[in-house]
This record gives sequence, structure tokens and C-alpha cells, in this order.
Amino acid sequence: MIANLLQFIDFEDMRMIDLDQVYDLECRSYEFPWSRNILKDCLLNKYDFYIASYNNKIIGYVISKISTHESHILNLTIDKDYRGNGIASELIEMIIAKCHVLGSKMIFLETRVTNKPAKKLYEKYNFHTIGIRKGYYKTSAGREDAVVYRCLID
Ligand SMILES: CC(C)(COP(=O)(O)OP(=O)(O)OC[C@H]1O[C@@H](n2cnc3c(N)ncnc32)[C@H](O)[C@@H]1OP(=O)(O)O)[C@@H](O)C(=O)NCCC(=O)NCCS
Repeated sequence: MIANLLQFIDFEDMRMIDLDQVYDLECRSYEFPWSRNILKDCLLNKYDFYIASYNNKIIGYVISKISTHESHILNLTIDKDYRGNGIASELIEMIIAKCHVLGSKMIFLETRVTNKPAKKLYEKYNFHTIGIRKGYYKTSAGREDAVVYRCLID
């Protein structure tokens, strides 16, 4: 953890000029990253796509689709050198705040059953398991299950 880092982080809408940095971070963060085209399509299709940056360097992002009834978080990634500083929490709070504004009643997401940091993070924000998708994710050894989470917005 870096002392007081959060106060120096800028949270902004993702723009097309950010695409290369976001794609680079995606590739550094996952064994099976999303393609540059998928990330670009999320932007072109006006997903709720926010970035976190520090000294003009993108160190995190969230991609979500917020709608009046239900919303989805599709990707949440923080640079490994900046984890544990509350940046993902801030991005989730931005999504929840926008859900309140639009009157969205719930948020769904999936994560790998083995992804302990992500599961802890979502449970901290009152996401509850509502199902398992068998073999949903690729692994180097085959497939692994996804936990499906839902958070009710009051
Ligand atoms: C999961 C991830 C997004 C968390 O980002 P982060 O900015 O480090 O998270 P925060 O600092 O906001 O942590 C918030 C909470 O998450 C949980 N958490 C975060 N990292 C954790 C870890 N290594 N072990 C256990 N719990 C962890 C804790 O409950 C923490 O709350 P606390 O600080 O009060 O204990 C980040 O580890 C990441 O990008 N991982 C790789 C990509 C990924 O797996 N994304 C999620 C895909 S669904």
C-alpha cells in the first residue's frame, strides 16, 4: 500500500486516446486478456467505462453497463503495483452512485471461483452469490467455474 495514494488519483471517463494504455494494462493483468477490439467496442457502444490514473498513467479501469433496471460490471482491473490502495473500491462506488442516479435496482457480475481478492472486494460491497457458471472461464489447465454475484441497490 502507498500512503495516501488515493487522493492523487484522477477518476475520469475513458476516451479513445486512452485505449492503448488500457489494452496494455489488460494484457499485463490477465492470462487471457480481452482483445483491443472488445475494449474499443465497449467504448464505441457507450458502456460506462471509467479509468483511474496517477501522474497521467492509467493504473485501473472499470467497464460496466448501467441501465434503469439492472446493471452489469464486466471488467475491473487495477495495475498490480497499485493494488490495495482502495482504487477498485472507488471505481465500484462510482458505479453504485450512477446506479442510484439512474434508478438501477441491481448489479450483476461474474468472477473466477479462485479469485480471492475479487471475491473479498465484491462481498465487502454486499454482492451475494446467486449461482455458479460451470467451466465459464479458460485456464491454462482447462476451464474453471465462475461465481455469479448480485448486489441489490436500495
Ligand atoms: C481485485 C482487484 C480489482 C482489487 O483492486 P484493489 O484496488 O487492490 O482493491 P481495494 O484496494 O479497493 O480493496 C478493497 C477490498 O478488496 C479486498 N481485497 C483487495 N485485495 C485483496 C487481497 N489481495 N486479498 C484479500 N482481499 C483483498 C479487501 O476486502 C479490500 O478491503 P480492505 O482493504 O478493507 O481489506 C485487483 O486485485 C485486481 O485488479 N486484480 C486483477 C484483476 C481482477 O482479478 N479483477 C477482477 C476480475 S472480476
